[in-house]
Amino acid sequence: MDKEELIKSLNWFYSLETSQADLYFAQSKVFKDHYGGLVFERAAQVEEDHRDLIGAKIKELGGIPTQTGEVISSIMGVSLGTILSMTGLNMVLKINIKLEEKAMSDYSELITRVEKEGEGPQSELCKLLKYNYVDEDQHTAIFAKLIEASNG
Ligand SMILES: [Fe+2]
Ligand SMILES: [Fe+2]
Repeated sequence: MDKEELIKSLNWFYSLETSQADLYFAQSKVFKDHYGGLVFERAAQVEEDHRDLIGAKIKELGGIPTQTGEVISSIMGVSLGTILSMTGLNMVLKINIKLEEKAMSDYSELITRVEKEGEGPQSELCKLLKYNYVDEDQHTAIFAKLIEASNG
C-alpha cells in the first residue's frame, strides 16, 4: 500500500471521526438531562482524540488532514439534518451504533492492510488503528446497553 493510498484512507477516518464528534456533541446537548447525554459527550471527546491522532499521522506522512464531504449522510443514506432532528433516544442510539459498526469494519480492513502490506503489526500506526477500534467497540457496547435499559 503506497503512501498516497494510506493518506487517502486516513483522510476517510479523519472525516468520519470529525463528523462523529460533531454529531455526538450535538446529541449530548439534546439529551443533556439523560445519562445518555453524558455518554454522547464523552464519546464525542474520544472521537476528537481519534481525529487528532489520525490528523497528526497524516501530517507525519506529508499529507494534509482533509474532510471529504458529508460522510454521515452517505453512510446512513439520509440527510444529516434528518439525523440531527431526531429526538428519540433509541433511534439516535441505533444510528450511532451503525456509524460505530461502519468505523469498526473500515478500521479492521485498514488494520489488515497495514499488517500485511504496510508498516506491519508492531508499527505505531497499527497500534493507533487498533486502539481506535477498541474505543469504537466500547461505544457500540454502551449504546447497545442504553437501548436495552430503555426497553426495560
Ligand atoms: Fe472514533
Ligand atoms: Fe466511536
